[in-house]
Amino acid sequence: MPTAIPTLREGAVTLRPIRLRDARALERELMANRSWLRTWEATSPYAPMSFDTRASIRSLLAHSRTGSGLPFLVEYNGELAGQLNVSSITWGSLSSASIGYWVGEQFAGRSITPTAVALATDYCFAQLGLHRMEICIRPENAPSLRVVEKLGFRYEGLRRRFIHINGAWRDHFAFGMVAEEVRGGVLRRWQDGEVPPGNATVNEYDRAASAHPLQVADK
Ligand SMILES: CC(C)(COP(=O)(O)OP(=O)(O)OC[C@H]1O[C@@H](n2cnc3c(N)ncnc32)[C@H](O)[C@@H]1OP(=O)(O)O)[C@@H](O)C(=O)NCCC(=O)NCCS
Repeated sequence: MPTAIPTLREGAVTLRPIRLRDARALERELMANRSWLRTWEATSPYAPMSFDTRASIRSLLAHSRTGSGLPFLVEYNGELAGQLNVSSITWGSLSSASIGYWVGEQFAGRSITPTAVALATDYCFAQLGLHRMEICIRPENAPSLRVVEKLGFRYEGLRRRFIHINGAWRDHFAFGMVAEEVRGGVLRRWQDGEVPPGNATVNEYDRAASAHPLQVADK
């Protein structure tokens, strides 16, 4: 079932549906932020990195037409600041989805991403009726770990060699949130200063384990 992509706003932050005509501006922003984004960028294990922004927008829109994704552009005071993508939307007894995001370096540090994640999560819980949202983050990505800490996503575990990022399979820390934890909304809970402390704390065992790559046999 196709899912309509809404426009969501809080203060200077707007999430709006991505469109094919955003390709040129998005490509400019992606190119200007190459070194900022490269370390964290999802890559394909089967093909070299593609810089075809129109093709990647088409693919995001195709996922939204099948109901498995919500691709947003993030704007700050009307300027293109980054992207937030809700992906892997599943229904039935799982009723879950994942969130990925980035903002350009010049927009970092203004709580744009936590605001965007809170807006998207509240929409997915309250309007779509999803039950669980997940965010997976490389152990080295301190700024992104702050995003889940600010909002109170719960640490759920270390996933070994989980996502292909910047040319290799990388370990990730998984964080989750379920709808009944945030009945008044994620955004409201954060703004009211009621995020339970320690939700996103990674246990010592996983943190230590993540410092040592899984031993794998050479091809
Ligand atoms: C991770 C990311 C999305 C955070 O977005 P954001 O809108 O800057 O989020 P916040 O404003 O809440 O900042 C989070 C933390 O980043 C750090 N930070 C702030 N400004 C920064 C800057 N200019 N450079 C690096 N880190 C910075 C701070 O530790 C901040 O925490 P604080 O608010 O407690 O000081 C952003 O850094 C980014 O796009 N990075 C590159 C892509 C990426 O990592 N995507 C996520 C993959 S899981």
